[in-house]
Amino acid sequence: MLSSLKSPEIIAIQEDGRAERGADRCHELTESPDSMPYTIAHLSDVHIPPLPPLSRGDWFSKRILGLFSWHRKWKAEHRMHIIQALQRSLDALAPDHICITGDLTFTTHPGEVAQATRWLESLGAAESISLVPGNHDAYLPGALEQACEAWAPWMTGDGQGRQQFPYLHRRGCVDIIGLSSGIPLRLPRTVGRLGSAQLKGLRALLESIEGDNRPCIILIHHPLQEGAARRGKELLDREALRAVLSEHAVDLVLHGHLHRPARATLQGRRGRTEVLGVSSASAFGDRYAPAHYHLLEFDRDDGQITIALRHVRYDRASDAFVPGEREALTQSFQAEPA
Ligand SMILES: [Fe+2]
Repeated sequence: MLSSLKSPEIIAIQEDGRAERGADRCHELTESPDSMPYTIAHLSDVHIPPLPPLSRGDWFSKRILGLFSWHRKWKAEHRMHIIQALQRSLDALAPDHICITGDLTFTTHPGEVAQATRWLESLGAAESISLVPGNHDAYLPGALEQACEAWAPWMTGDGQGRQQFPYLHRRGCVDIIGLSSGIPLRLPRTVGRLGSAQLKGLRALLESIEGDNRPCIILIHHPLQEGAARRGKELLDREALRAVLSEHAVDLVLHGHLHRPARATLQGRRGRTEVLGVSSASAFGDRYAPAHYHLLEFDRDDGQITIALRHVRYDRASDAFVPGEREALTQSFQAEPA
């Protein structure tokens, strides 16, 4: 008979990068860790249309190039009716939590940020969503800071007074860590970088939660595996990130950025770390893969926690998202704290 999972403690990252356990537990922040199965939808790169009209000042910034690219290449791809179909699918499948790996906007225009904020609010309670930004949410110098301020309710760690990365959300039986890899760049580069401070914070966070032996998910916009993104689109410090993960117990890394499904496996301290990349959640599929999202199911089986994956794919004919077969994703591990 399976014993109950411990209710997790709040862990806050301090200004010097240390992770500190709080006296409070997450009872009020999260569902019971015993509630199973626990389901998480993972989606990305929504690039919510339409783009707002440009102001006079935008004509002298990089944003004008983004607008040109949007109208020439992307406006026909990212469609509102697919976002509405996504909403219907999420309503029907009713995941316990939603993880979003960035690129809600195309040029981080204030109007796009406000539009994305309204969309996030429409998805459900802020506690049931974990968000990280992408490179399109850091389009110009200063834009990421504005987006992070607007989206703080979905990107602030449990018990943290202010928004910062990495953050930790302890939800149900799962620990979710959010990283920020978007940086402002000159076109056409869309590389990402975490930086040493964020990697140090990640290491401290992983060390602090390891003893709780809960499933751990990392959210990042850019893929971290070698060769997934071509030159000019890659995560610059991916090797350093992989080195951190190899020393810790991380079960899943969820990313976007590629606009197509991607998959890789890393070796972590507890066993395999599955790396899952998802297509854009709003794509018609003429330029890259059609829209799809991941549905992850955490369940218990004879004293162990198991993780299963379903791809939920957009079908043009029915204008609806269709769930695929359930696939056992990882080796199960002991549900009991070590
Ligand atoms: Fe991206």
